[in-house]
Amino acid sequence: MTLFHSIRTRLTLWYTALLGATLLGFGATAYLLTRSILLNNLDRSLRNEVAWVNEFIEPKARKVRLKRAALLELQELKRAATALSPVDSSDVATVETDQIWNQIYQHTLLSPRRQFIQILDRNGDLLYRSPSLENQTIAFADIPYRTINIITIRDEQNRELRLASTQNDFVKIVVAYPLADLTEALGDIFSNFGTMAPLALLVSIIGGWFLAHKSLKPVAALTSSARAITARNLSQRLPRQKVDDELGRLTETFNDMIARLQESFAQIQQFSADASHELRTPLTIMRGEIEVALRSKRLTKSTRELLISVHDELIRLSSIVESLMTLVKSESGRLAFRFDNVELHRMIGEILEDAQILAGRKEIHISAGQIEPVTVRGDAVRLRQLFLNLVENAIKYTPNEGTVSMSLRQMNGNAVFHVSDTGIGIPKKDLKKIFDRFYRVKHDGIPDAGGSGLGLAIARWIAQAHHGTIEVKTQPRKGSTFTVTLPLS
Ligand SMILES: Nc1ncnc2c1ncn2[C@@H]1O[C@H](COP(=O)(O)OP(=O)(O)O)[C@@H](O)[C@H]1O
Ligand SMILES: [Mg+2]
Repeated sequence: MTLFHSIRTRLTLWYTALLGATLLGFGATAYLLTRSILLNNLDRSLRNEVAWVNEFIEPKARKVRLKRAALLELQELKRAATALSPVDSSDVATVETDQIWNQIYQHTLLSPRRQFIQILDRNGDLLYRSPSLENQTIAFADIPYRTINIITIRDEQNRELRLASTQNDFVKIVVAYPLADLTEALGDIFSNFGTMAPLALLVSIIGGWFLAHKSLKPVAALTSSARAITARNLSQRLPRQKVDDELGRLTETFNDMIARLQESFAQIQQFSADASHELRTPLTIMRGEIEVALRSKRLTKSTRELLISVHDELIRLSSIVESLMTLVKSESGRLAFRFDNVELHRMIGEILEDAQILAGRKEIHISAGQIEPVTVRGDAVRLRQLFLNLVENAIKYTPNEGTVSMSLRQMNGNAVFHVSDTGIGIPKKDLKKIFDRFYRVKHDGIPDAGGSGLGLAIARWIAQAHHGTIEVKTQPRKGSTFTVTLPLS
Protein backbone atom coordinates (compact mmCIF):
# COMPACT_ATOMS: atom_id res chain seq x y z
CA MET A 1 0.00 0.00 0.00
CA THR A 2 1.77 3.12 -1.15
CA LEU A 3 1.19 6.37 0.65
CA PHE A 4 -0.91 7.99 -2.04
CA HIS A 5 -3.01 4.95 -2.74
CA SER A 6 -4.51 4.92 0.70
CA ILE A 7 -7.83 6.40 1.76
CA ARG A 8 -6.11 7.31 4.98
CA THR A 9 -3.71 9.72 3.30
CA ARG A 10 -6.41 11.21 1.13
CA LEU A 11 -8.76 11.69 4.08
CA THR A 12 -6.03 13.37 6.09
CA LEU A 13 -5.04 15.62 3.19
CA TRP A 14 -8.62 16.66 2.46
CA TYR A 15 -9.28 17.25 6.10
CA THR A 16 -6.17 19.37 6.51
CA ALA A 17 -6.84 21.31 3.30
CA LEU A 18 -10.36 22.08 4.52
CA LEU A 19 -9.15 23.17 7.91
CA GLY A 20 -6.41 25.28 6.29
CA ALA A 21 -8.94 27.00 4.04
CA THR A 22 -11.27 27.57 6.99
CA LEU A 23 -8.48 29.04 9.10
CA LEU A 24 -7.36 31.24 6.23
CA GLY A 25 -10.91 32.46 5.55
CA PHE A 26 -11.52 33.00 9.23
CA GLY A 27 -8.23 34.86 9.66
CA ALA A 28 -8.82 37.11 6.67
CA THR A 29 -12.39 37.92 7.73
CA ALA A 30 -11.35 38.60 11.31
CA TYR A 31 -8.47 40.78 10.11
CA LEU A 32 -10.63 42.87 7.80
CA LEU A 33 -13.38 43.19 10.39
CA THR A 34 -11.00 44.23 13.14
CA ARG A 35 -9.32 46.69 10.83
CA SER A 36 -12.61 48.28 9.88
CA ILE A 37 -13.66 48.50 13.55
CA LEU A 38 -10.34 50.05 14.51
CA LEU A 39 -10.61 52.52 11.63
CA ASN A 40 -14.17 53.45 12.61
CA ASN A 41 -13.08 54.01 16.17
CA LEU A 42 -10.18 56.11 15.02
CA ASP A 43 -12.44 58.19 12.79
CA ARG A 44 -14.88 58.74 15.63
CA SER A 45 -12.19 59.85 18.04
CA LEU A 46 -10.59 62.09 15.39
CA ARG A 47 -13.98 63.64 14.76
CA ASN A 48 -14.52 64.16 18.51
CA GLU A 49 -11.11 65.68 18.82
CA VAL A 50 -11.69 68.17 16.02
CA ALA A 51 -15.09 68.99 17.46
CA TRP A 52 -13.60 69.50 20.91
CA VAL A 53 -10.79 71.77 19.74
CA ASN A 54 -13.21 73.68 17.60
CA GLU A 55 -15.74 74.18 20.35
CA PHE A 56 -13.01 75.10 22.77
CA ILE A 57 -11.33 77.65 20.55
CA GLU A 58 -14.36 79.27 18.91
CA PRO A 59 -15.62 81.42 21.82
CA LYS A 60 -12.13 82.28 23.01
CA ALA A 61 -10.82 82.96 19.58
CA ARG A 62 -13.32 85.77 19.24
CA LYS A 63 -11.78 87.46 22.27
CA VAL A 64 -8.19 87.16 21.17
CA ARG A 65 -8.82 88.24 17.68
CA LEU A 66 -7.53 91.79 18.26
CA LYS A 67 -4.25 90.75 19.72
CA ARG A 68 -3.42 88.29 17.04
CA ALA A 69 -1.31 90.70 15.02
CA ALA A 70 1.19 91.04 17.84
CA LEU A 71 1.15 87.35 18.42
CA LEU A 72 1.82 86.73 14.76
CA GLU A 73 4.82 88.95 14.81
CA LEU A 74 6.20 87.18 17.82
CA GLN A 75 5.61 83.82 16.29
CA GLU A 76 7.40 84.83 13.18
CA LEU A 77 10.38 85.84 15.22
CA LYS A 78 10.35 82.76 17.28
CA ARG A 79 9.99 80.48 14.32
CA ALA A 80 12.97 82.08 12.66
CA ALA A 81 15.07 81.76 15.81
CA THR A 82 14.38 78.24 17.09
CA ALA A 83 11.87 76.60 14.77
CA LEU A 84 10.41 75.20 17.94
CA SER A 85 6.79 74.39 18.44
CA PRO A 86 4.31 74.51 19.89
CA VAL A 87 4.33 78.13 20.40
CA ASP A 88 5.30 78.39 23.98
CA SER A 89 3.10 80.20 26.44
CA SER A 90 5.93 82.51 27.46
CA ASP A 91 6.03 83.87 23.95
CA VAL A 92 2.42 84.79 24.06
CA ALA A 93 1.77 88.25 25.23
CA THR A 94 -1.64 87.81 26.64
CA VAL A 95 -2.73 85.62 29.48
CA GLU A 96 -5.88 84.56 27.67
CA THR A 97 -4.07 83.32 24.56
CA ASP A 98 -1.58 81.66 26.79
CA GLN A 99 -4.34 79.78 28.55
CA ILE A 100 -5.99 78.53 25.38
CA TRP A 101 -2.86 76.85 24.05
CA ASN A 102 -2.01 75.53 27.44
CA GLN A 103 -5.33 73.84 27.74
CA ILE A 104 -5.10 72.34 24.32
CA TYR A 105 -1.62 71.20 25.12
CA GLN A 106 -2.78 69.54 28.30
CA HIS A 107 -5.65 67.97 26.49
CA THR A 108 -3.23 66.56 23.95
CA LEU A 109 -1.06 65.13 26.68
CA LEU A 110 -4.05 63.51 28.33
CA SER A 111 -5.23 62.01 25.11
CA PRO A 112 -4.08 58.40 24.94
CA ARG A 113 -3.57 58.53 21.22
CA ARG A 114 -0.40 59.76 19.62
CA GLN A 115 -2.26 62.21 17.54
CA PHE A 116 -1.17 65.34 15.75
CA ILE A 117 -3.03 68.57 16.23
CA GLN A 118 -2.30 71.58 14.07
CA ILE A 119 -4.18 74.85 14.20
CA LEU A 120 -3.69 77.56 11.62
CA ASP A 121 -5.27 80.98 11.41
CA ARG A 122 -7.14 82.11 8.39
CA ASN A 123 -3.93 83.42 6.85
CA GLY A 124 -2.54 79.97 6.97
CA ASP A 125 -0.09 80.83 9.73
CA LEU A 126 0.58 78.36 12.49
CA LEU A 127 -1.17 78.99 15.81
CA TYR A 128 -0.52 75.70 17.53
CA ARG A 129 0.87 72.27 16.86
CA SER A 130 1.04 69.36 19.21
CA PRO A 131 4.44 68.21 20.54
CA SER A 132 4.03 64.91 18.72
CA LEU A 133 4.35 66.74 15.43
CA GLU A 134 7.77 68.10 16.45
CA ASN A 135 8.57 70.67 13.75
CA GLN A 136 6.66 69.07 10.99
CA THR A 137 3.79 70.86 9.30
CA ILE A 138 0.86 69.06 7.86
CA ALA A 139 0.27 70.60 4.46
CA PHE A 140 -3.39 70.16 3.71
CA ALA A 141 -5.59 72.69 2.05
CA ASP A 142 -8.91 71.08 1.30
CA ILE A 143 -10.48 71.93 4.67
CA PRO A 144 -14.32 72.06 4.78
CA TYR A 145 -16.09 74.99 6.35
CA ARG A 146 -17.97 74.27 9.58
CA THR A 147 -18.24 70.56 8.89
CA ILE A 148 -15.77 67.83 9.69
CA ASN A 149 -14.20 65.81 6.91
CA ILE A 150 -12.06 62.69 7.39
CA ILE A 151 -9.70 61.31 4.75
CA THR A 152 -6.39 59.46 4.43
CA ILE A 153 -3.35 61.37 3.15
CA ARG A 154 0.40 60.87 2.90
CA ASP A 155 2.70 63.26 4.69
CA GLU A 156 6.15 64.47 3.65
CA GLN A 157 7.79 61.28 4.91
CA ASN A 158 5.26 59.30 2.91
CA ARG A 159 3.58 57.99 6.04
CA GLU A 160 -0.14 57.39 5.82
CA LEU A 161 -2.16 59.67 8.02
CA ARG A 162 -5.83 59.57 8.87
CA LEU A 163 -6.83 63.19 8.97
CA ALA A 164 -9.89 65.06 10.28
CA SER A 165 -10.24 68.74 9.53
CA THR A 166 -12.59 71.69 9.81
CA GLN A 167 -12.42 75.44 9.69
CA ASN A 168 -14.45 78.32 10.98
CA ASP A 169 -14.24 82.09 10.64
CA PHE A 170 -11.00 82.27 12.61
CA VAL A 171 -8.97 79.07 12.48
CA LYS A 172 -8.28 75.93 10.50
CA ILE A 173 -8.07 72.81 12.64
CA VAL A 174 -6.38 69.60 11.56
CA VAL A 175 -6.17 66.48 13.71
CA ALA A 176 -4.29 63.50 12.30
CA TYR A 177 -3.18 60.08 13.38
CA PRO A 178 -0.54 57.84 11.72
CA LEU A 179 -2.15 54.75 10.25
CA ALA A 180 1.06 52.82 10.86
CA ASP A 181 0.09 52.68 14.52
CA LEU A 182 -3.18 51.06 13.62
CA THR A 183 -1.46 48.53 11.34
CA GLU A 184 0.97 47.81 14.13
CA ALA A 185 -1.83 47.14 16.57
CA LEU A 186 -3.47 44.86 14.01
CA GLY A 187 -0.17 43.08 13.51
CA ASP A 188 0.09 42.54 17.27
CA ILE A 189 -3.33 40.93 17.31
CA PHE A 190 -2.71 38.70 14.30
CA SER A 191 0.95 37.79 14.77
CA ASN A 192 -0.20 35.09 17.19
CA PHE A 193 -2.63 33.82 14.62
CA GLY A 194 0.21 33.35 12.16
CA THR A 195 1.98 30.98 14.52
CA MET A 196 -1.15 29.31 15.85
CA ALA A 197 -2.62 28.44 12.46
CA PRO A 198 0.28 26.19 11.31
CA LEU A 199 0.27 24.61 14.75
CA ALA A 200 -3.44 23.89 14.44
CA LEU A 201 -2.81 22.43 10.99
CA LEU A 202 -0.09 20.18 12.36
CA VAL A 203 -2.37 18.97 15.13
CA SER A 204 -5.05 18.33 12.53
CA ILE A 205 -2.68 16.30 10.32
CA ILE A 206 -1.59 14.14 13.22
CA GLY A 207 -5.11 13.85 14.58
CA GLY A 208 -6.59 13.15 11.17
CA TRP A 209 -3.93 10.56 10.41
CA PHE A 210 -4.61 8.86 13.72
CA LEU A 211 -8.41 8.98 13.36
CA ALA A 212 -8.25 7.66 9.80
CA HIS A 213 -5.97 4.88 10.98
CA LYS A 214 -8.37 4.00 13.76
CA SER A 215 -11.45 3.94 11.56
CA LEU A 216 -9.76 2.14 8.65
CA LYS A 217 -8.02 -0.51 10.72
CA PRO A 218 -10.88 -3.02 10.32
CA VAL A 219 -10.58 -2.58 6.53
CA ALA A 220 -6.98 -3.79 6.59
CA ALA A 221 -8.04 -6.77 8.70
CA LEU A 222 -10.90 -7.50 6.27
CA THR A 223 -8.55 -7.29 3.30
CA SER A 224 -6.14 -9.84 4.71
CA SER A 225 -8.88 -12.27 5.75
CA ALA A 226 -10.59 -11.93 2.36
CA ARG A 227 -7.26 -12.60 0.65
CA ALA A 228 -6.89 -15.84 2.58
CA ILE A 229 -10.18 -17.21 1.23
CA THR A 230 -9.78 -19.25 -1.96
CA ALA A 231 -11.77 -21.90 -3.78
CA ARG A 232 -10.25 -24.43 -1.39
CA ASN A 233 -11.53 -22.90 1.82
CA LEU A 234 -14.83 -21.37 0.86
CA SER A 235 -16.28 -22.56 4.15
CA GLN A 236 -14.30 -19.78 5.81
CA ARG A 237 -15.99 -16.48 6.61
CA LEU A 238 -14.71 -13.00 7.29
CA PRO A 239 -14.64 -12.15 10.99
CA ARG A 240 -17.88 -10.42 11.93
CA GLN A 241 -17.63 -6.77 12.92
CA LYS A 242 -18.71 -5.77 16.38
CA VAL A 243 -20.74 -2.81 15.20
CA ASP A 244 -23.41 -2.64 12.55
CA ASP A 245 -21.78 0.25 10.70
CA GLU A 246 -20.73 0.55 7.04
CA LEU A 247 -17.91 -1.96 7.55
CA GLY A 248 -20.15 -4.32 9.46
CA ARG A 249 -22.65 -4.32 6.60
CA LEU A 250 -19.87 -4.72 4.04
CA THR A 251 -18.58 -7.77 5.92
CA GLU A 252 -22.08 -9.26 6.02
CA THR A 253 -22.46 -8.70 2.29
CA PHE A 254 -19.12 -10.33 1.61
CA ASN A 255 -20.00 -13.31 3.77
CA ASP A 256 -23.33 -13.72 1.99
CA MET A 257 -21.49 -13.64 -1.32
CA ILE A 258 -18.98 -16.25 -0.19
CA ALA A 259 -21.83 -18.44 1.03
CA ARG A 260 -23.47 -18.26 -2.40
CA LEU A 261 -20.13 -19.02 -4.07
CA GLN A 262 -19.62 -21.98 -1.78
CA GLU A 263 -23.03 -23.32 -2.71
CA SER A 264 -22.42 -23.01 -6.47
CA PHE A 265 -19.00 -24.55 -6.06
CA ALA A 266 -20.40 -27.50 -4.17
CA GLN A 267 -23.01 -27.96 -6.89
CA ILE A 268 -20.36 -27.97 -9.63
CA GLN A 269 -18.24 -30.45 -7.69
CA GLN A 270 -21.20 -32.68 -7.11
CA PHE A 271 -22.08 -32.52 -10.79
CA SER A 272 -18.52 -33.42 -11.86
CA ALA A 273 -18.36 -36.25 -9.34
CA ASP A 274 -21.75 -37.62 -10.46
CA ALA A 275 -20.87 -37.28 -14.15
CA SER A 276 -17.52 -39.08 -13.89
CA HIS A 277 -19.05 -41.73 -11.68
CA GLU A 278 -21.88 -42.32 -14.15
CA LEU A 279 -19.41 -42.50 -17.06
CA ARG A 280 -17.14 -45.00 -15.38
CA THR A 281 -19.48 -48.01 -15.39
CA PRO A 282 -20.56 -47.94 -19.04
CA LEU A 283 -16.93 -47.42 -20.08
CA THR A 284 -15.81 -50.48 -18.13
CA ILE A 285 -18.64 -52.54 -19.63
CA MET A 286 -17.77 -51.40 -23.16
CA ARG A 287 -14.12 -52.29 -22.65
CA GLY A 288 -15.05 -55.75 -21.36
CA GLU A 289 -17.38 -56.38 -24.27
CA ILE A 290 -14.81 -55.32 -26.87
CA GLU A 291 -12.20 -57.53 -25.20
CA VAL A 292 -14.64 -60.47 -25.45
CA ALA A 293 -15.38 -59.66 -29.07
CA LEU A 294 -11.66 -59.51 -29.88
CA ARG A 295 -11.26 -63.11 -28.70
CA SER A 296 -13.50 -64.32 -31.51
CA LYS A 297 -11.63 -65.89 -34.44
CA ARG A 298 -14.28 -65.06 -37.00
CA LEU A 299 -13.44 -61.34 -37.18
CA THR A 300 -12.23 -59.89 -40.43
CA LYS A 301 -8.93 -58.06 -40.32
CA SER A 302 -10.48 -54.62 -40.76
CA THR A 303 -13.08 -55.19 -38.03
CA ARG A 304 -10.36 -56.36 -35.67
CA GLU A 305 -8.29 -53.24 -36.34
CA LEU A 306 -11.33 -51.07 -35.79
CA LEU A 307 -12.13 -52.79 -32.47
CA ILE A 308 -8.52 -52.44 -31.29
CA SER A 309 -8.58 -48.73 -32.08
CA VAL A 310 -11.89 -48.26 -30.25
CA HIS A 311 -10.45 -50.23 -27.34
CA ASP A 312 -7.45 -47.87 -27.17
CA GLU A 313 -9.72 -44.85 -27.15
CA LEU A 314 -11.84 -46.43 -24.42
CA ILE A 315 -8.75 -46.93 -22.28
CA ARG A 316 -7.85 -43.28 -22.80
CA LEU A 317 -11.38 -42.17 -21.95
CA SER A 318 -11.36 -44.32 -18.81
CA SER A 319 -8.12 -42.81 -17.66
CA ILE A 320 -9.48 -39.31 -18.20
CA VAL A 321 -12.58 -40.15 -16.20
CA GLU A 322 -10.41 -41.65 -13.46
CA SER A 323 -8.22 -38.54 -13.31
CA LEU A 324 -11.27 -36.32 -13.24
CA MET A 325 -12.75 -38.29 -10.37
CA THR A 326 -9.49 -38.08 -8.48
CA LEU A 327 -9.33 -34.31 -8.89
CA VAL A 328 -12.97 -33.72 -8.01
CA LYS A 329 -12.64 -35.84 -4.92
CA SER A 330 -9.40 -34.14 -3.95
CA GLU A 331 -11.01 -30.73 -4.15
CA SER A 332 -14.01 -31.63 -2.07
CA GLY A 333 -11.59 -33.24 0.42
CA ARG A 334 -13.31 -36.59 -0.01
CA LEU A 335 -10.14 -38.39 -0.94
CA ALA A 336 -8.33 -39.82 2.07
CA PHE A 337 -4.57 -40.29 2.00
CA ARG A 338 -3.03 -43.30 3.65
CA PHE A 339 0.23 -42.00 5.08
CA ASP A 340 3.08 -44.38 5.65
CA ASN A 341 6.85 -44.40 5.51
CA VAL A 342 7.76 -44.58 1.85
CA GLU A 343 11.25 -45.51 0.65
CA LEU A 344 11.46 -43.25 -2.33
CA HIS A 345 14.66 -44.76 -3.78
CA ARG A 346 12.88 -48.13 -4.14
CA MET A 347 9.91 -46.44 -5.77
CA ILE A 348 12.13 -44.58 -8.24
CA GLY A 349 13.86 -47.86 -9.06
CA GLU A 350 10.50 -49.34 -10.05
CA ILE A 351 9.58 -46.23 -11.99
CA LEU A 352 12.82 -46.51 -13.99
CA GLU A 353 11.62 -49.94 -15.10
CA ASP A 354 8.16 -48.62 -15.87
CA ALA A 355 9.76 -45.88 -17.94
CA GLN A 356 11.40 -48.47 -20.19
CA ILE A 357 7.99 -50.00 -20.82
CA LEU A 358 6.37 -46.56 -21.34
CA ALA A 359 9.03 -45.64 -23.88
CA GLY A 360 7.97 -48.77 -25.77
CA ARG A 361 9.08 -48.64 -29.33
CA LYS A 362 10.34 -45.05 -29.01
CA GLU A 363 14.13 -44.86 -29.12
CA ILE A 364 14.60 -42.96 -25.91
CA HIS A 365 17.46 -43.48 -23.56
CA ILE A 366 16.30 -43.75 -19.94
CA SER A 367 19.13 -42.93 -17.55
CA ALA A 368 19.37 -42.96 -13.78
CA GLY A 369 21.41 -40.26 -12.13
CA GLN A 370 22.33 -40.20 -8.50
CA ILE A 371 19.70 -42.05 -6.41
CA GLU A 372 20.17 -41.51 -2.68
CA PRO A 373 18.23 -43.53 -0.12
CA VAL A 374 15.45 -41.26 1.11
CA THR A 375 12.35 -42.03 3.16
CA VAL A 376 9.36 -39.70 3.39
CA ARG A 377 5.94 -39.92 4.98
CA GLY A 378 3.30 -40.19 2.34
CA ASP A 379 0.76 -42.13 0.39
CA ALA A 380 2.72 -44.62 -1.74
CA VAL A 381 0.00 -45.00 -4.37
CA ARG A 382 -0.35 -41.25 -4.85
CA LEU A 383 3.39 -40.55 -4.85
CA ARG A 384 3.86 -43.21 -7.50
CA GLN A 385 1.14 -41.54 -9.55
CA LEU A 386 2.92 -38.18 -9.15
CA PHE A 387 6.31 -39.49 -10.38
CA LEU A 388 4.75 -41.54 -13.16
CA ASN A 389 2.81 -38.55 -14.50
CA LEU A 390 6.06 -36.58 -14.78
CA VAL A 391 8.03 -39.41 -16.33
CA GLU A 392 5.20 -40.17 -18.73
CA ASN A 393 5.23 -36.53 -19.88
CA ALA A 394 9.01 -36.54 -20.26
CA ILE A 395 8.82 -39.55 -22.56
CA LYS A 396 5.75 -38.29 -24.40
CA TYR A 397 7.23 -34.88 -25.19
CA THR A 398 10.71 -36.11 -26.16
CA PRO A 399 11.37 -37.14 -29.74
CA ASN A 400 13.27 -40.29 -30.73
CA GLU A 401 16.92 -40.56 -29.74
CA GLY A 402 16.33 -38.27 -26.79
CA THR A 403 17.22 -38.89 -23.17
CA VAL A 404 15.10 -38.93 -20.02
CA SER A 405 17.04 -38.99 -16.77
CA MET A 406 15.98 -39.13 -13.14
CA SER A 407 17.72 -38.45 -9.86
CA LEU A 408 16.76 -38.51 -6.21
CA ARG A 409 18.65 -36.64 -3.56
CA GLN A 410 18.39 -35.49 -0.02
CA MET A 411 18.85 -31.74 0.50
CA ASN A 412 18.16 -29.42 3.45
CA GLY A 413 15.67 -31.79 5.06
CA ASN A 414 13.91 -32.46 1.77
CA ALA A 415 13.73 -35.25 -0.72
CA VAL A 416 14.40 -33.75 -4.16
CA PHE A 417 13.39 -35.63 -7.29
CA HIS A 418 14.45 -34.44 -10.74
CA VAL A 419 13.22 -35.70 -14.06
CA SER A 420 14.92 -34.14 -17.08
CA ASP A 421 14.30 -34.66 -20.75
CA THR A 422 15.81 -33.45 -24.00
CA GLY A 423 12.36 -32.84 -25.45
CA ILE A 424 10.42 -30.06 -27.06
CA GLY A 425 10.28 -27.85 -23.98
CA ILE A 426 7.45 -25.54 -22.96
CA PRO A 427 6.93 -22.00 -24.31
CA LYS A 428 7.28 -19.31 -21.64
CA LYS A 429 3.73 -18.03 -22.04
CA ASP A 430 2.30 -21.45 -21.18
CA LEU A 431 4.50 -22.15 -18.17
CA LYS A 432 2.10 -20.71 -15.63
CA LYS A 433 -0.86 -22.66 -16.93
CA ILE A 434 0.47 -26.17 -17.51
CA PHE A 435 -0.55 -27.18 -13.98
CA ASP A 436 -4.16 -26.10 -14.63
CA ARG A 437 -6.76 -28.75 -15.31
CA PHE A 438 -7.24 -29.59 -18.99
CA TYR A 439 -4.54 -27.15 -20.05
CA ARG A 440 -2.49 -28.51 -22.94
CA VAL A 441 0.15 -26.70 -24.97
CA LYS A 442 -0.30 -26.50 -28.70
CA HIS A 443 3.16 -26.86 -30.25
CA ASP A 444 3.58 -25.55 -33.80
CA GLY A 445 4.78 -28.17 -36.23
CA ILE A 446 4.81 -31.00 -33.70
CA PRO A 447 2.05 -33.64 -33.89
CA ASP A 448 -0.19 -33.82 -30.83
CA ALA A 449 0.96 -36.59 -28.50
CA GLY A 450 -2.55 -36.99 -27.12
CA GLY A 451 -3.58 -36.51 -23.51
CA SER A 452 -6.17 -34.92 -21.26
CA GLY A 453 -4.22 -32.09 -19.67
CA LEU A 454 -4.96 -33.50 -16.21
CA GLY A 455 -1.62 -35.17 -15.44
CA LEU A 456 0.20 -32.13 -14.04
CA ALA A 457 -2.87 -30.91 -12.17
CA ILE A 458 -2.96 -34.21 -10.34
CA ALA A 459 0.81 -34.16 -9.80
CA ARG A 460 0.66 -30.73 -8.23
CA TRP A 461 -2.25 -31.65 -6.04
CA ILE A 462 -0.40 -34.73 -4.73
CA ALA A 463 2.78 -32.72 -4.07
CA GLN A 464 0.83 -30.09 -2.16
CA ALA A 465 -1.01 -32.72 -0.12
CA HIS A 466 2.44 -33.88 1.01
CA HIS A 467 3.42 -30.28 1.87
CA GLY A 468 5.80 -30.37 -1.05
CA THR A 469 6.27 -28.32 -4.21
CA ILE A 470 6.64 -29.01 -7.88
CA GLU A 471 8.62 -26.72 -10.17
CA VAL A 472 9.65 -26.66 -13.78
CA LYS A 473 12.63 -25.28 -15.68
CA THR A 474 12.46 -25.43 -19.42
CA GLN A 475 14.03 -24.28 -22.65
CA PRO A 476 11.91 -24.53 -25.77
CA ARG A 477 13.29 -27.20 -28.18
CA LYS A 478 16.05 -28.11 -25.70
CA GLY A 479 14.20 -29.84 -22.90
CA SER A 480 12.57 -29.53 -19.48
CA THR A 481 13.34 -30.46 -15.91
CA PHE A 482 10.58 -31.01 -13.37
CA THR A 483 11.62 -30.90 -9.73
CA VAL A 484 9.54 -32.32 -6.87
CA THR A 485 10.51 -31.35 -3.36
CA LEU A 486 9.01 -33.31 -0.45
CA PRO A 487 9.77 -32.73 3.23
CA LEU A 488 11.44 -35.69 4.93
CA SER A 489 9.51 -37.58 7.57
N1 LIG B 1 8.30 -32.81 -20.11
C1 LIG B 1 7.55 -31.96 -20.85
N2 LIG B 1 8.05 -31.44 -21.99
C2 LIG B 1 7.31 -30.59 -22.73
N3 LIG B 1 6.05 -30.23 -22.45
C3 LIG B 1 5.49 -30.75 -21.33
C4 LIG B 1 6.21 -31.64 -20.49
N4 LIG B 1 5.39 -31.98 -19.47
C5 LIG B 1 4.24 -31.35 -19.68
N5 LIG B 1 4.27 -30.58 -20.79
C6 LIG B 1 3.23 -29.74 -21.33
O1 LIG B 1 2.27 -29.49 -20.31
C7 LIG B 1 0.97 -29.82 -20.74
C8 LIG B 1 0.18 -30.38 -19.59
O2 LIG B 1 0.68 -31.61 -19.18
P1 LIG B 1 -0.27 -32.68 -18.53
O3 LIG B 1 -1.05 -32.01 -17.48
O4 LIG B 1 0.50 -33.89 -18.16
O5 LIG B 1 -1.27 -32.97 -19.73
P2 LIG B 1 -1.11 -34.00 -20.95
O6 LIG B 1 0.18 -34.70 -20.79
O7 LIG B 1 -2.28 -34.88 -20.81
O8 LIG B 1 -1.19 -33.13 -22.16
C9 LIG B 1 1.17 -30.79 -21.84
O9 LIG B 1 0.14 -30.69 -22.78
C10 LIG B 1 2.50 -30.38 -22.44
O10 LIG B 1 2.30 -29.46 -23.47
MG1 LIG C 1 0.60 -35.79 -19.06
